[in-house]
Amino acid sequence: MDAACCILFGGTERGFSAMDHRVVEQCSAWSDVEAIAGAYALEALDGPVGSASALPNVCYTSAAWQKLEFERLFARSWFVAGFVQDVPLPGDAMPVEAFGMPLLVLRDLDGGIRVFHNVCRHRRAILVSGKRTRLRELACPDHGWTYDLDGSLKRCPHADGGGRHDDAPGLTAIRSEVWHHWVFVNLDGEAPALEDYLAPAEDLVRGYDLGTARHAGTVHFEIAANWKLALENYIEPYHVFSAHPRLHAFVPMSERMPSRTDRHVMWNRYLFRASEPGRGEGLPHFPNLSAEAARQGVWFILPTAFGVEVYPDHVASFHVAPVAPDRCRERIDVYLVGEAATSPEWADGRQAVLDMWKELNHEDIGLVESMQRGRTSPAYDGGCLSAYWDEAPLHLSRMVVDGMR
Ligand SMILES: [Fe+2]
Repeated sequence: MDAACCILFGGTERGFSAMDHRVVEQCSAWSDVEAIAGAYALEALDGPVGSASALPNVCYTSAAWQKLEFERLFARSWFVAGFVQDVPLPGDAMPVEAFGMPLLVLRDLDGGIRVFHNVCRHRRAILVSGKRTRLRELACPDHGWTYDLDGSLKRCPHADGGGRHDDAPGLTAIRSEVWHHWVFVNLDGEAPALEDYLAPAEDLVRGYDLGTARHAGTVHFEIAANWKLALENYIEPYHVFSAHPRLHAFVPMSERMPSRTDRHVMWNRYLFRASEPGRGEGLPHFPNLSAEAARQGVWFILPTAFGVEVYPDHVASFHVAPVAPDRCRERIDVYLVGEAATSPEWADGRQAVLDMWKELNHEDIGLVESMQRGRTSPAYDGGCLSAYWDEAPLHLSRMVVDGMR
């Protein structure tokens, strides 16, 4: 493996050799994927749900596998690197870390959101170390190389004895696009349009005016489990009756359907009989909802560790950051309609939504971590899946591998 290709999740060994054109080199081969997972295990993903198997243990425990996931799935597709609410005004900048890489999400002086590698072109010092506001330019703390907010280089103090360095390039930009409240990036620059990637998801949320929603709060979770287990848990409703008493009372198993798949998107929905605090009660609803949407919960996940869930009164994003094969970070951001996001008048309803998400995820974390420990057992062989309930979690295995082809 070329040293320039070593980009580890949350690790210290990183490197780029093609900063000018392609941020991530295609440095792993499909044969590497087959060699780690095993060709037999990959074949076992196919076939009817009741007889197929999900990914084997190694795909949940191996650092080599996770490195391949980064290089062949995440780097070639779209994933969420930032949140629009972090850079509300021109000149706002927010450093973030994705897969161990320092990135910078900023709003330029024309109001556009841009994403750069958060390193100076000179000696790769970190450019911005904390959230900043009202910036007019970006100056490296190391030698003062200074960039416009569009990434172009303005000054190199004392370079050549003057202030210029005519050959020096600007910041390394990353292809990015905003969808509602979320900043998606495509590291290799060659993924199909984000609009196409999100088309199946767009269909699910079309009836909601998500533009009226404002950020109301975030809940964070540290989970000792592989990122895929967090997503699988999120999309399969089979465990609701045993793990979530309040959620089961809200919509019982008899009124639930298994999650469906639409291309690379996995999704579910239900209709509830009566709203409750945290789910549709005590807060303003999205405008002009259909009668069905007014009593619906609908949610989906993408194979690149991101999901969205919508209720009549809020939208929540579900973001999972792989940190190590057996560790991930999860955050749920809640967005409420208009002033409900910030006004004291709606404080109780707002807190009820955040508490609901906190409670629900605390009920899940022990189970997800238990499955991670189970992935070290030689008795696990990809699982004995429910033909009725488990198509979506199996589909995630398939979509991860599809993305790595
Ligand atoms: Fe759950």
